[in-house]
Amino acid sequence: MEVQAQEIANRLRAAERVGVYCHIDADGITGGAIASEALSRAGISHDVSFLKKLDEASLQVIRREAPPVAWFVDFGAGQLHHMREMDAVITDHHVPTSREIPRENRRDLVRFAEASDRVLMVNPHMDGEGSDVVSGAGLAYAVARAMDPKNRDLAAVAIVGAVADVQDQEFRRLRGFNRTILQDGIEAGVVRASIDLRLFGRETRPVHKMLQYSQDPWIPRLSGNGEACIAFLLEIGVDLKVEETWRTWSELEAGEKRRIVSELATHMLGRGCGWREVERLVGEVYTLPREPVGSPTRDAKEFGTLINACGRYEAAEVGYRVCRGDRGEALEEAFRLLAGHREHLVSSLQWIEEIGLTQLDAVQYFHAEDKVRDTVVGIAAGIALQASGNRQMPILAFAYAPDGVKVSARAPRELVARGLDLAAIMREASKRFGGEGGGHHAAAGATIPRGTEEEFAHAVDALVKGQLSHAAAPPSGPP
Ligand code: C5P
Ligand code: ZN
Repeated sequence: MEVQAQEIANRLRAAERVGVYCHIDADGITGGAIASEALSRAGISHDVSFLKKLDEASLQVIRREAPPVAWFVDFGAGQLHHMREMDAVITDHHVPTSREIPRENRRDLVRFAEASDRVLMVNPHMDGEGSDVVSGAGLAYAVARAMDPKNRDLAAVAIVGAVADVQDQEFRRLRGFNRTILQDGIEAGVVRASIDLRLFGRETRPVHKMLQYSQDPWIPRLSGNGEACIAFLLEIGVDLKVEETWRTWSELEAGEKRRIVSELATHMLGRGCGWREVERLVGEVYTLPREPVGSPTRDAKEFGTLINACGRYEAAEVGYRVCRGDRGEALEEAFRLLAGHREHLVSSLQWIEEIGLTQLDAVQYFHAEDKVRDTVVGIAAGIALQASGNRQMPILAFAYAPDGVKVSARAPRELVARGLDLAAIMREASKRFGGEGGGHHAAAGATIPRGTEEEFAHAVDALVKGQLSHAAAPPSGPP
């Protein structure tokens, strides 16, 4: 990857002007900020824009804009086949187009990406790695570092991108090329890694709220119950307030933290949780020590959520400016967007509770129509799945989107361990209805035409049943 990053850096250095196009999520926004900072420092003129998705139509627009070099951040790999004759560089960790092509024809496309001197790509899949060893922001960082080793300070924003893309989730720590980035950040004094409670809100949430909103792991009796969380903490003798202000996790003494974690573990084990769940309480967490204590920009996960909130409400620019260092107006605006996001999420969850979940044989679903934004329905689905307490069924969620119906799918970890792959199912089912989809094993999505939702749900139901029965069957020889 470093070799490819160097080639891309060389191409950019020679460019008269660069058009930077970024995905409108936290990974794309942080990646765009890194790209732009590196180009600015190198004195290369450029423009930055954010796109909800990169498809044939948006590529047509970009062709008309005709930047001397186009730089795609956190997307592009899946659209290689639409980029012939374009001058482009791609920093993306998604599965390249070539994966969709039969194996015997694949080599040509990869070679096209690698050898065509007009499109250069750095992508972990080209090294046989998966999507979660590095993010789009991390790859933009690799290019920035190749442009100038002084750009190592940008590692902090790259770690925010990786964490926002939940690349630390499965193994409770970053891995692969992300660890190289982390090491750079530590050496540059802009990131710190430590083993700590993994729950969201270390810098900004009162401790009891942090427990109350815990989802991964779900803590029996405490998750979703603020009063029980206060009682739990008081019982083990933790002072919740200093004078009139609630204490946050980052303000606790090391001894208090240890006591809470150990009591949480005991609590979970005593209520039927297995070790696998309990150990998810703790993992590697990432701090940006140059940011002020108590600011969401100090914790990589909170920073990522703040930036995601901007992208979800069509204010990518605001998040971008925060990533570029604006701690004034843009940060204030980002706070407002995050607060608005939380309100929208609360009302969305209330609505879902009112309409309830429809149960099929192997999946459950709800249709949020226009009550939940298409950019938020995935989060709502994840929370609704947890709250349903159903560990045997994935959840599907529908919401109206400008280009049809947005589908989000989420699966309990147990089912993924049994072989469920929602990305494959979303891809397959959406194709049948003229839509498109993909994603990850446990979290995937699709866009389908309006009016096909019910049939789509039944198709997914059948595919889930098929995968799970298949998974239970004994292996039948080599593939
Ligand atoms: O939007 P949501 O959070 O549900 O998306 C989950 C995953 O599904 C994301 O990784 C996204 O890239 C993928 N997805 C996709 N095609 C879509 C929608 C989502 O591949 N049309
Ligand atoms: Zn990404």
